[in-house]
Amino acid sequence: MQNGLYIQRCLQLAQLGKGHTSPNPMVGAVLVHSDRIIGEGWHQQYGQTHAEVNCLAGVKPADQHLVPESIMYVSLEPCAHTGKTPPCATRLVAERVKKVVICNTDPFAQVSGKGIQILKDAGIAVVTGIHHSEGLWVNRRFYCYHTNNRPYIILKWAQTTDGYMSPVDRGRFAITNQHTQQLVHKWRTEEDAILVGSTTALNDNPQLTSRLWAGKQPLRVVLAGKHTIPSGYHLLDESAPTLIFNEAKNEDAGHIQYVQVGRDEHQLNNILAILHQQKVLSVIIEGGPATLSRFIQQGLWDEARVLTGNKQLSDGIDAPNLPNADLAFETDIDTDRLQLFINRDSNYPYPGGMSL
Ligand SMILES: NC(=O)c1ccc[n+]([C@@H]2O[C@H](COP(=O)([O-])OP(=O)(O)OC[C@H]3O[C@@H](n4cnc5c(N)ncnc54)[C@H](OP(=O)(O)O)[C@@H]3O)[C@@H](O)[C@H]2O)c1
Repeated sequence: MQNGLYIQRCLQLAQLGKGHTSPNPMVGAVLVHSDRIIGEGWHQQYGQTHAEVNCLAGVKPADQHLVPESIMYVSLEPCAHTGKTPPCATRLVAERVKKVVICNTDPFAQVSGKGIQILKDAGIAVVTGIHHSEGLWVNRRFYCYHTNNRPYIILKWAQTTDGYMSPVDRGRFAITNQHTQQLVHKWRTEEDAILVGSTTALNDNPQLTSRLWAGKQPLRVVLAGKHTIPSGYHLLDESAPTLIFNEAKNEDAGHIQYVQVGRDEHQLNNILAILHQQKVLSVIIEGGPATLSRFIQQGLWDEARVLTGNKQLSDGIDAPNLPNADLAFETDIDTDRLQLFINRDSNYPYPGGMSL
């Protein structure tokens, strides 16, 4: 019995959907007969068919008669509700699969435990919890959204070898190499939103889009405070929807949405609640240091991706302190160093051996 191996394959397949499934989870499924994989599938795109259905569709005509004697391995509990597609648990019952082996139960209230119950009520054997922590890591954005009721928060910054994020005059200064920059653009395609503070928005005039990697453009979020983003700035262009939290107005202006938030101790929680309402499962916070520090001080972060380039500044704006953090792994990207830190209070620890 290779339960662990087949669930690992499910998790590999699930991650092929990264950047395409939100607000749904990433899910992979494998159908096995006598230790031979006869079907594989994953949830490829939000609104489209689920992993189990894609897996069954992949079974060759010559193997169709084996389905009722086969074991379905799936990385997340089969769904029990009719959403954009019919319930997968009911489909597995109709196919009369012999057994279902599941990595994680679904945190989504309309499914949680109900999919498993449908299978058990139909007399199908169910096993759960295989590679649970790896599955939690793969779907940490989805779990955080449904159990912590806020988006999963990724901090990301670049720093010099002497620990500065920018020169004293806060002028634009490239710290990392081109490979790292491309990787950061890839990361952007994998998150629902990207957030910066007003000084970064005004000084750097950033585009905050993914131009060096194909994929979706995240929602751009700016904490503008009392400031106005001048017309002609990239953040107001039509390359991605933009949400500007500010102190003056509420207004819908096509792809730009202005939302008024007060400047008090609840500000960040209010902002996260609004992002949650907008079905933002994850946000990558790209600076500057004042904004990053505000989230860190309130413990509002899950993981931090710190990129150290091989440049020095001697003086400048310090990178934030990151208390209560565990180094999960580090690796070189040519001349740069990537370190992944996890918040010790996060419900989603790094299980080792997994990609970001
Ligand atoms: N190396 C990197 O990875 C990296 C990344 C991004 C930026 N940068 C650099 O960082 C510098 C800017 O950083 P910064 O620390 O001065 O400014 P910042 O974090 O970009 O913006 C901070 C400003 O945003 C406004 N704001 C509104 N709500 C806020 C909240 N909840 N938390 C924090 N700020 C809020 C405040 O402006 P008011 O108080 O005026 O309202 C605050 O002063 C630039 O030089 C930029 O190039 C470096």
